[in-house]
Amino acid sequence: MAKDYSVYFNRPSLKQAKKRKIKETPKVDFNAHPNLRHLGRGKQYLIKTYGCQGNEADSETMKGILETLGFTETYEETQADLIILNTCAIRENAENRVFGELGRLKKQKNNNPDLILGVAGCMPQEEDVTDRILKKFHYVDLVFGTHNIHKLPDYLESAMLGKERVIEVFSNEGQIVENLPKKRENDTKAYVNIMFGCDEFCTYCIVPYTRGKERSRDPEDILDEISTLIDQGYQEVTLLGQNVNAYGRDFTDKAYTFADLLNDVGQMSIPRVRFTTSHPNDFDDTAIEALASHDNMMPHIHLPVQSGSNKVLKRMNRKYTKESYLDLVRRIKAALPDVSLTTDIIVGFPGETEDDFLETLDLVRRVDFEGAFTFVFSARKGTPAAKFEDQTPLEEKKARLQRLNQFINDGFLKGHQRFKGETVEVLVDGTSKKDDTILAGYTKHNKLVNFPGTREHISKRLFVDVHEAKTWFLKGAIHEDA
Ligand code: SAH
Ligand code: SF4
Ligand code: F3S
Repeated sequence: MAKDYSVYFNRPSLKQAKKRKIKETPKVDFNAHPNLRHLGRGKQYLIKTYGCQGNEADSETMKGILETLGFTETYEETQADLIILNTCAIRENAENRVFGELGRLKKQKNNNPDLILGVAGCMPQEEDVTDRILKKFHYVDLVFGTHNIHKLPDYLESAMLGKERVIEVFSNEGQIVENLPKKRENDTKAYVNIMFGCDEFCTYCIVPYTRGKERSRDPEDILDEISTLIDQGYQEVTLLGQNVNAYGRDFTDKAYTFADLLNDVGQMSIPRVRFTTSHPNDFDDTAIEALASHDNMMPHIHLPVQSGSNKVLKRMNRKYTKESYLDLVRRIKAALPDVSLTTDIIVGFPGETEDDFLETLDLVRRVDFEGAFTFVFSARKGTPAAKFEDQTPLEEKKARLQRLNQFINDGFLKGHQRFKGETVEVLVDGTSKKDDTILAGYTKHNKLVNFPGTREHISKRLFVDVHEAKTWFLKGAIHEDA
C-alpha cells in the first residue's frame, strides 16, 4: 500500500549536526498521551540492536515505551507486528549488515502488509542513509534518530492508525528527557546513562554527528536511578557515556565532575560499579583517586588508545601522545595495582606507515592490555579523515590487524593466567551457551568464568576457585566455603 508522508517529515544533515548551538540543555519529563496507552494492545514487537552499549540502553528505553503502550515482546519475526532495527553507523560493515537485514525483511513485509518496519539509531542520522531508505526501501514505515526516541508513541500512532510514513530525524539535540520507561534486559546488571553525545570530534568518528553535543544528566537523576536499581536488587551498574570523563563539563549552574559522581556512587550500596567509555585526555587524578577510594569501583578500565604513533594520534585529534598515555597508565597502576586495562585500536588510519604501526605494537607491549577491540579504519562520510588523501590499502590494513590481534590475544591469555589458582568473586549471569550445567559470570576484573553449578546460583555473587586459564575465559569450581 502506498503511503503518504505524515506530519512527520524531517531529513538529517551532518553539516548541521556538527554545530554546537545550545549551551544549556532543557530537561523534560516523558509522558505518553493517555489516548495512546492501548495502541499496542494484542500486538507484538521485536527490536534488533546493533552497536554500542549506548544503543543497547536506547533499545531498553524503546522497549519500555512500547510496553507502556500495551505491546509485548517477541523474538519471532513471523509473530511481530512491529520490527525496529536500532542501528550503528560506526563502520561501513556495521551499516552493510543493516541494509542486508532490511533487504531480507522485505519478504516478511510482503507476507504481512500490516507489519510496521522501523529504522532507528545512528544510521538515520546520516543523510545518505535516510535518503537511500527513502528511495530504495519504500516498505520501511518509520525512520527516526537518536534525539527523538521519546516521540515513538506519536510516530506509531501516525504509522499504525494514519497508515502514514514517518521520517523524522533531528540533526541537533533538543533536550534531556527524564523518567523514560525502561525494560531492562538483565535483572542484576544495569546500564545508567550519565551523559549523551560527544564533543571530541576524533577525525575518524561519526558519533559526534549522530549523537550530538555533550549533555550531562543531573547528578540527582543519576543517583535516584541507581537508588531505585538498588531497591530492585541490582548488583552492578555501568555508567554510560561516549566520554564519561567529560561528565559535568557542560553544567552551567554547578561544578560537579566525573570524580564527584564516582565519589557519590562509591558511597551507595550498589556492590559493583563500572563505567564506559573513558577518554585518556580527560582522565584526571581526581577520578583515579575516586576509583581507589571505594571498594565498589571495579578494577577494570577500558581506555581506548587508538594508536601508539604520535603522528597518527595527532591526525586523529586525540589530544594526547604515546608518552602522556603511558604516563596516565603509570598513574592508574600506581593507584590501582591490580587493575585490568583494555583498549580500542584502529589500524590503517590514513598515512599510517609500518613504523607508526610498530609504535602501536610497542605501546601494546608496554601497557600489558588484557584485551582490546581492534578495527581496521573505515572511512565515514562527513568526517575529516574520510577526505584524507593517503588512505591505507585494504590488504595492508587487514594484514596489520592480523599482526596486532596476535599480540592482543597473548594479552588476553596473560590477563587470565594471573588468576589461575586464585579465588575470585563472580556475579553469575546464567548458564553457558553450550551447556546448561555450566554457569557463566564475570569477575570484578571483568573476566568471563565458566564453572559447574545450578540455576539457583544465577544472579548471585559467588566465590569461585580458578583452575584453568584459556585465551577467552577462565574455568573453575565454586569455592567450598561459599
Ligand atoms: N566513545 C568511545 C567509543 C567510540 S566507538 C571512545 O571514544 O572510545 C568505539 C570504537 O570504534 C572507537 O574507540 C574506535 O576504536 C572505533 N572506531 C570509531 N570510528 C571508527 C572508524 N571510522 N573506523 C574504524 N574504527 C572506528
Ligand atoms: Fe568518537 Fe572520539 Fe567521541 Fe569516542 S571520543 S565517540 S572515538 S569522537
Ligand atoms: Fe554505533 Fe552510534 Fe554507538 S554509531 S557505536 S551505535 S553511538
